[in-house]
Amino acid sequence: METKDRILQLRAELHQHNHRYYVENAPIISDQEFDHLMHELIALEAQHPEMYDPNSPSQRVGSDLQSDFEQVEHQYPMLSLGNTYNRDDVRDFYERVEQGLEGQDFEICCELKFDGLSISLIYENGSLVRALTRGDGVKGDDVTSNVRTIATIPLKLQPAEGAQPYPERFEIRGEILLPWNSFDRLNAEREQDGDPLFANPRNAASGTLKSKNSRVVAHRKLDAYLYYLLGEGIPTVSHYDNMQHAKSWGFKISDAMKVAHSLQDIYDYIDFWDEARHSLPVATDGIVLKVNSLRQQELLGYTAKSPRWAIAYKFQAERALTRLNAVTFQVGRTGAVTPVANMDPVLLAGTIVKRASLHNEDIIKGLDLHVGDYVYVEKAGEIIPQIVDVETSKRDETLGEKVEFIKTCPECGAPLIRYEGEAAHYCPNDAACPPQIKGRIEHFVSRDAMNIMGLGTEVVDRYFQNGLIHDVTELYTLGERAAAPMDLFSQSDEDVLLHDIFSKKSGLNILKAIEDSKQVPFDRVLYALGIRFVGKVAAKALASQLKTMENLRHASKDELLAVEGIGDIIAQSVLDYFANPKDAELVDKLAAFGLQMSMPEQQQLGSSLEGLSIVISGTFSHHSREEYKQLIEQYGGKNVSSISKKTSFILAGENMGPSKLDKAQKLGVKLMSEDEFLELIK
Ligand code: IVH
Repeated sequence: METKDRILQLRAELHQHNHRYYVENAPIISDQEFDHLMHELIALEAQHPEMYDPNSPSQRVGSDLQSDFEQVEHQYPMLSLGNTYNRDDVRDFYERVEQGLEGQDFEICCELKFDGLSISLIYENGSLVRALTRGDGVKGDDVTSNVRTIATIPLKLQPAEGAQPYPERFEIRGEILLPWNSFDRLNAEREQDGDPLFANPRNAASGTLKSKNSRVVAHRKLDAYLYYLLGEGIPTVSHYDNMQHAKSWGFKISDAMKVAHSLQDIYDYIDFWDEARHSLPVATDGIVLKVNSLRQQELLGYTAKSPRWAIAYKFQAERALTRLNAVTFQVGRTGAVTPVANMDPVLLAGTIVKRASLHNEDIIKGLDLHVGDYVYVEKAGEIIPQIVDVETSKRDETLGEKVEFIKTCPECGAPLIRYEGEAAHYCPNDAACPPQIKGRIEHFVSRDAMNIMGLGTEVVDRYFQNGLIHDVTELYTLGERAAAPMDLFSQSDEDVLLHDIFSKKSGLNILKAIEDSKQVPFDRVLYALGIRFVGKVAAKALASQLKTMENLRHASKDELLAVEGIGDIIAQSVLDYFANPKDAELVDKLAAFGLQMSMPEQQQLGSSLEGLSIVISGTFSHHSREEYKQLIEQYGGKNVSSISKKTSFILAGENMGPSKLDKAQKLGVKLMSEDEFLELIK
């Protein structure tokens, strides 16, 4: 078979396997076989750049292209829905529809209201051509490249056998969601990195979809349900039937849709899902009711803000009343102090809750909280329990003291500080406050950092309690200390434990893992330091751009800001870190122990780009962006991120952003195509 045909065949097969896996949940090949096919496709596409297709399954992995989103007008405005909160409102809606339709029979399609962010997808000839966020309803952000990474959104439609044809051009709308399990995983990662947690999956999904790096989007595993088909020539005049057709073309349509023929049917649907929604893999916050006939929809029309033929019924957030017994304070790795309410256990949305975060001093003050108060607890975005109110009518003479925020650290006694403009209190004693020290060590040894296996929370705790390690540098003298001859009569805990390490298999394994960690690449060493806001992605970007710890330490703010993906907060945090002599000293010590403090030397391939500053923009077909970056450096050039008068030329791929094009033109900077560039360095 011709390679080109093989590419087409692989694309078709992979599209189908994707659909079977993600939409139908019924894969017919193993993950390994899938990866195998994907690798073959990626390899062949690399050999045949002229066959580049933005909708190839290989594009699901995302690219490092930084896109500023272009604003595009919606063909049909994206309206919102009127909200109702109780059955009477639902009845009112039903009766308004009845009246508006002057006695015609009608059906109501009942659906779940997914709690994510709405998206509009445009398909032409069965291919996804554009994805827009709601924006202000009239114009939205073009997030096509990010949306392409979402596995359940078909890039090319895969009609099932016997499916009706899809229109040549149509729009389908739906909701992008981050499933609970991905949300939990993401927040766990962020907690490790010292990044602020997302309050709920909606915020996380929205933050993700607006990410400028589609590889981040691909990693986070978004999902999507579609619920509204628009355009000329859609199959039927029944909304429900249209959605079933859309399903047969390969879209993910909820199975929870149901056609109601009476008000009672609607109430039954609400009652059922109010309970059953708790076991869904994604967040829902209500029910949407839509008049099923498109003709009747048209008849009913729209108000200025929303359709008259549809309405949203919002679920009551579940609430429970319980007694507050005490407020305790927790200190995290970064020194942030979190007040925690300890309450009588109570059942809330399917789980027993006995602790809730009180966030900060202002929240405690706002509630005028007293020990012994009866408090209402809700799940914020359905996940972290929160105290939302106090039942003051239940106060009596047993009421305890007013809750005051502590002034000193509960762990080390240091006076707390509150930075101007911030709500949180911090313990500034990072050098000696136990949970901060332990937290830093735990982060340092964790899998994505130095990956020192065997050193879990408990072991770190034991080593710390017994005076074996006070900071991460002491890990690297542990072997020597353990091997040193011991005073046979010493019974100090420290000596006993050291002896233990040297005489037990588990201890020896830890020593080996510590030794091995000296080979861990620089970017992970940087991540392991636990610099605030420097997560894995930022550490990688900083390491690959600045190359060495020395460069990083002496980098100015502007140099840091010039690194892709590094903004003001991260840059300032890096500056603060190295400005602190204790941290700088720690880095020196680690360097002396032989940890990797620079990226491996780039092999020089030539000097044809010597002295040139080159901006990369757009998407490419022969090599990835990262590869072009490397090539530029390997030929003596410098890759810079923003266009200026000093820019020698722009290596311009497809779909270069309009603002960049504009700037290039204004400054008279030349554009060079991929092929010209490859010719230049040949
Ligand atoms: S239909 C004109 N159906 O809720 C009707 N919307 O407040 C367009 N939503 O912006 C919306 N689930 O983001 C519809 N099954 C569903 C939905 C749904 C969630 C969201 C959507 C919309 C908002 C309305």
